[in-house]
Amino acid sequence: MSHHEAKIAAGKKAAEWIADGMIVGLGSGSTAECFIDSLIELCKEGLKIEAVASSRASAERARKGGIAVMDINSVPRIDITVDGADEIDSEKRMIKGGGGAHVREKILAAASKEMVVIVDESKLVGTIGRAKLPVEVLFFGSPSTRKQIEEMGYKGKWRLQKDGTLFITENGNLLFDIQFESPPLSPEQDHFNLTQIPGVVDTGFFFRLAGRVIIGYPDGTTRVQ
Ligand code: 5RP
Repeated sequence: MSHHEAKIAAGKKAAEWIADGMIVGLGSGSTAECFIDSLIELCKEGLKIEAVASSRASAERARKGGIAVMDINSVPRIDITVDGADEIDSEKRMIKGGGGAHVREKILAAASKEMVVIVDESKLVGTIGRAKLPVEVLFFGSPSTRKQIEEMGYKGKWRLQKDGTLFITENGNLLFDIQFESPPLSPEQDHFNLTQIPGVVDTGFFFRLAGRVIIGYPDGTTRVQ
């Protein structure tokens, strides 16, 4: 519950930074949803923006609230993207993809003038890599791709849905969730190694993408880093 209040506080603060005429990238996950809800309230009060979304869930939530959600391929620019994270360190390196949307989230973040990250305190870590690292893998040849990932020494599992069937991303791909035995010494090197394997689309590591970070607290206050 307290995490929820903290997420609401962070989402509300980020929404205050949105101005008329902006094209806004919507992240995914429960913290991003708090931002979308605050944005909907501001739009009801007269704020005029357009949005692009990193997932169907975020697009639907925003549309239901009356926000115009555009096709990313039809917008001239993205002014700001607001998204959550599974882990973030003091250098603003992140692991994302708990919700399985990290590939689209990264595309939005990279296309934006700024990515604002909204988190509660539980997401701040000394070293990223305790959370599972999602690796998006093309279905075509996926057993061989998995074998190559494992031959590099990474251990993990295909992500499953609650009913035990394979989780398929909105891009039609699988997710191999890597569990590190201890946080990696060089996440950048791991990202490089993994993305060299044919069939790997991208990892959930985010480097040099985060702009301002808003940390929300259960008492409703926020801190900006
Ligand atoms: C989804 C994500 C989310 O931003 C991340 O999993 C954090 O989610 P939450 O805000 O629900 O804790 O990367 O792909």
